Amino acid sequence: MDEVMINRRFADYLLLLTSEDPVVALTTGHTFGTWKKQKGWNPLHIVDAEGCYFFDVNGKKYLDFSSQLMCSNLGHKNKAVIEAICDQARKLPYISPAFTCDVRAELTKLLLSVFPKGLEKFFYSTSGTEANEAAIKIARLYTGKYKIISRYRSYHGSTGASIAATGDLRRLPIEPSGKVDGIIFAPDVDSYRSPFGVEFSERAIASAQYIDYMIRNEGNVAAILFEPVVGTNGVLVPPKDYLPMLKEIAEKHGVLLIADEVMSGWGRTGEWFAVNHWNVKPDILTTAKGITGAYAPLGVTATTREIAEYFEDHFFAHGHTYEAHPLTLAPAIAAINEYKRLDLINEARRKGEYLGKRLNDLMEKHPSVGDVRGLGLFWAIELVKNRKTKEPFYNSNDKLLGKPSLLGKIAQEMMVQRGVYINDWLSHFIIAPPLIITRDEIDEGVNALDQSLKIADREVV
Ligand SMILES: Cc1ncc(COP(=O)(O)O)c(C=O)c1O
Repeated sequence: MDEVMINRRFADYLLLLTSEDPVVALTTGHTFGTWKKQKGWNPLHIVDAEGCYFFDVNGKKYLDFSSQLMCSNLGHKNKAVIEAICDQARKLPYISPAFTCDVRAELTKLLLSVFPKGLEKFFYSTSGTEANEAAIKIARLYTGKYKIISRYRSYHGSTGASIAATGDLRRLPIEPSGKVDGIIFAPDVDSYRSPFGVEFSERAIASAQYIDYMIRNEGNVAAILFEPVVGTNGVLVPPKDYLPMLKEIAEKHGVLLIADEVMSGWGRTGEWFAVNHWNVKPDILTTAKGITGAYAPLGVTATTREIAEYFEDHFFAHGHTYEAHPLTLAPAIAAINEYKRLDLINEARRKGEYLGKRLNDLMEKHPSVGDVRGLGLFWAIELVKNRKTKEPFYNSNDKLLGKPSLLGKIAQEMMVQRGVYINDWLSHFIIAPPLIITRDEIDEGVNALDQSLKIADREVV
């Protein structure tokens, strides 16, 4: 290649780097980026994805170490799921939910085989938010009561009742105008941080007892809404007695248990659903995300036969145009069959042990790592300025004010320098790779984190 040619290539390359990508410009100029101030948003333009990797417009490859938004559990471009969508699109892309179709029956039969026993009637929607909206409405209609107990470290969705029942910072900007009556918050079950001093298992029991106290003193409590393993808010795994105790308390008072398994379901924790770890049967279970491996937007609200029977003679006051949409049901059937064929639930447990061990080893090396916790292929690493004081690098206020975050900087460095995508939220990273991940890919992700954590180590005081 002569020098002129080389210079021309270099000039083209520079142009590529500096010119504004029209896809990015149209995206940021005319569509909203979520949960942020809009100024400064500069999304990466992605053009392809395969297995545990995705690729940007410049051909750069990234390991997906968080399954996008903890939803791409099957990895990218699963052939069976794609085929199911294409076949359904050719056969029957849409029919009103007032009718029925083959995939509605087939998925229902499959769900009966994987959901915790006793959950027998389903409402199909298109997101986790909608699944929780339906759950709250059903609980209120069925019990005739209106209060819902949620917890501070929680996220349950972005609209109406589901954002009102969200305990984290995302609820704050919609108050007071978006406030929904009757949502009350109980203490969290967090092994690392707590407003109370005592040991974790005692704290968890005290938290459950406090819910008992709330129910007795509030009156009118319809349901307790909880993430069995809290997701975005830090992968908080309860100790063994907490959920069985919550079940006992709920039963004693005739209050329903609504398990939000939008993120924790579909093998993420090494069980089909996280409640299975404690053998606790909720009255209502909600899920979305992994049910289709994120190939199509499907939410499910599952109820017991008892709740279902109530609506035999009472008006079921709920519904959507795209409820039970065939293009969301068909990929769910294929996805569940893939979870089974590839034995991914057990794989998540096996590989999760390895991932957990590797992440725990990082704690030895990095003074900025305050805590490592998780279950299955669902882990959080919490960073702190100081292990003794547990002072976080970033908090909810910083996020609401749009301040730059150190964890965001580390995540960015991992993307740019090491080709690894990892999800950060406030003071922790969420490590939740596709369940098909290999040991080598786990090593690739953890090694990248190992390198990039040096940025935080330098800020430790
Ligand atoms: C536990 C939990 N519930 C509900 C939701 C809302 O689901 P969606 O974003 O599909 O509306 C999420 C989303 O992250 C979640 O993690």
